[in-house]
Amino acid sequence: MTQDELKQRVAEAALEYVEDGMIVGVGTGSTVNFFIDALARIKGRIDGAVSSSEASSTRLRAHGIPVYELNAVGPLPVYIDGADESDPQLCLTKGGGGALTREKIVAAASERFVCIADASKLVERLGRFPLPVEVIPMARSHVARQLLKLGGQPVWREQFVTDNGNLILDVHGLQIDDPRGLERAINDIAGVVCNGLFALRPADVLLLASAEGVRRITP
Ligand code: A5P
Repeated sequence: MTQDELKQRVAEAALEYVEDGMIVGVGTGSTVNFFIDALARIKGRIDGAVSSSEASSTRLRAHGIPVYELNAVGPLPVYIDGADESDPQLCLTKGGGGALTREKIVAAASERFVCIADASKLVERLGRFPLPVEVIPMARSHVARQLLKLGGQPVWREQFVTDNGNLILDVHGLQIDDPRGLERAINDIAGVVCNGLFALRPADVLLLASAEGVRRITP
């Protein structure tokens, strides 16, 4: 099976977590795009969605699915999103698409976080995928120097601006033995808006697609 077929398979499996009348938290990325397309088939059964990016909002609306502001609806029953990496405890690296801050907000405001991914995303230890850090523009060089002190090699994602008007530094070469500690340490740097580690609020369920089928993993 191709990677796209695996993404589609796991996206379809996530419909199991969608119940009638729900407002569904929807993440960002190519796997989530398949989920949005699957959600469109049952759109008459749901109330709508809260989205983590302008790109996902556009796709949802194109399917005729109402998109609500998070402030207008309060806590969500479920959030469905992809990841760049997951460890066996369901700590994640996210933000390859640059939507990490809104993703972290919607995940935090959701009772259950269901992560959908193909089997290539499961790793023993996070760190192979560069860790995205969203930064206030004037703090870019300062934050980069602090990230060097933490042992990473920050690379500015040039020509990219987040939905919040900020910049992304992709941090290569980090040894992520303590995801929660590193998430806190990076958050403590002045000028950091958010980092792509989802360890303080990991996923609750990981649906992982391989050629053999979809495995459901819990921590
Ligand atoms: C978006 O900012 C990311 O967090 C995505 O959820 C992550 O990069 C996974 O994307 P794919 O589903 O495209 O691999």
